[in-house]
Amino acid sequence: MRMVVLGLGYLGATHAACMAELGHEVLGIEVIPEKRAQLAAGEVPFYEPGLPELVKRHIDSGRLKVSGSYAEAADFADVFFIAVGTPQKKGEYSADLQYVDAAIEELVPLLTRDSLILGKSTVPVGTAQRLSERADELAKDIDVEIAWNPEFLREGFAIEDTLHPDRLVLGAFPGGRAEAITRETYAEIIQAGTPFIVTEPPTAEMVKASANAFLATKISFINAIAEVCDAAGADVTAIADAIGYDARIGRKFLNAGLGFGGGCLPKDIRAFMARAGELGAAEALSFLREVDNVNMRRRTHMVELAREVCGGSLLGKRIAILGAAFKPESDDVRDSPALNVAGQIQLQGASVTVYDPKAMDNSRKLFPTLDYAISAVEACEKADAVLVLTEWNEFITIDPFAIGNVVRGKRVIDGRMCLSRERWRNAGWEYRS
Ligand code: UDX
Repeated sequence: MRMVVLGLGYLGATHAACMAELGHEVLGIEVIPEKRAQLAAGEVPFYEPGLPELVKRHIDSGRLKVSGSYAEAADFADVFFIAVGTPQKKGEYSADLQYVDAAIEELVPLLTRDSLILGKSTVPVGTAQRLSERADELAKDIDVEIAWNPEFLREGFAIEDTLHPDRLVLGAFPGGRAEAITRETYAEIIQAGTPFIVTEPPTAEMVKASANAFLATKISFINAIAEVCDAAGADVTAIADAIGYDARIGRKFLNAGLGFGGGCLPKDIRAFMARAGELGAAEALSFLREVDNVNMRRRTHMVELAREVCGGSLLGKRIAILGAAFKPESDDVRDSPALNVAGQIQLQGASVTVYDPKAMDNSRKLFPTLDYAISAVEACEKADAVLVLTEWNEFITIDPFAIGNVVRGKRVIDGRMCLSRERWRNAGWEYRS
């Protein structure tokens, strides 16, 4: 099949390359010229394991092409995926849909054949309906069908999650071609036994919002339990293990620590609350405010813990921060708990040096006033305390003796409960988590 992917960020670039991998002819549209040039040369402007190889393979095979032209897109195919960003609006909880809207406004007037536009971006419930009405106004004597096909990929596992998803969801208006075309698009995945759930668009939009709200709630649940554990002297990891054996609960997403960040969970739960409010159902999701509160409290709690291990004040102290990405196997620093903590500690008068295996460039852009080191050991030089805030394998396996030789004070705070307490204590460290 021939298809177009609009927007080549974390989601769109992965989707475009994976569709080429499934054998389709794909044209990716990206408005930022530098990103476009990189992708056209078979390079990926962000870190995602395996993606550079996949993009290069299909740029070389000719199945994946990149352009900045909507006119070319309209000419190329009659199936379009929207994969542009839907960030949080500045100063508000709701999602900013300007990029989704712009894609429709620009594309639809250029279409000359009946077309299907499949939204992949995370949007508030009701968006497909609104866009469908707008597309009808913009379309010139043709039928433009809008349907929603939400994406559940995790950064760091994006290719695996796209090619072998837990489920496929399609929200289509009755009577259209969306289901048939989507079945053809994902034929290989559906044949492999992946559940394919077809609903109307509001349900599909809410499947995505509900999934992320549940995941965020699960993380904040265990972090709330962790707060009680701190007060009671209990071990939250043992609790997570023990309750996780119950199949109804499950162990995944019960890792207590610094909490969730990134470009999805935080903004998606806020957008969900905002939309519920618009629909007159704010009360139903009021618990998500507490989920958000518990999560943000982890960050201030970490700063307090750092101050405590430094003897009550951070003024003039040197703090090493290991990890800047919002999670390992990613260079994404959007709403990163690690960088947020680094910034707060610096504001309290400490000198902060950050090291991350992949997220250095993005961190420098977001927090130019922090110091950055080229290795974990360099970041720890003369540090009064070392904070491990992203659970990269490099930090889990680091030698506490080697780090112990360069620091000023052997104090480590394990913000992701990922280090071996015994190993660090045996190497003479004061270990806190
Ligand atoms: C998430 C959803 O998992 C994905 O389905 C959706 O499409 C987009 O949002 P992603 O943002 O890539 O994906 O990361 P995810 O692996 O879900 O982690 C989110 C955050 O939660 C990270 O900051 C991670 O460190 C944190 N987390 C995760 C915890 O604090 N504890 C856990 O047990 C699991």
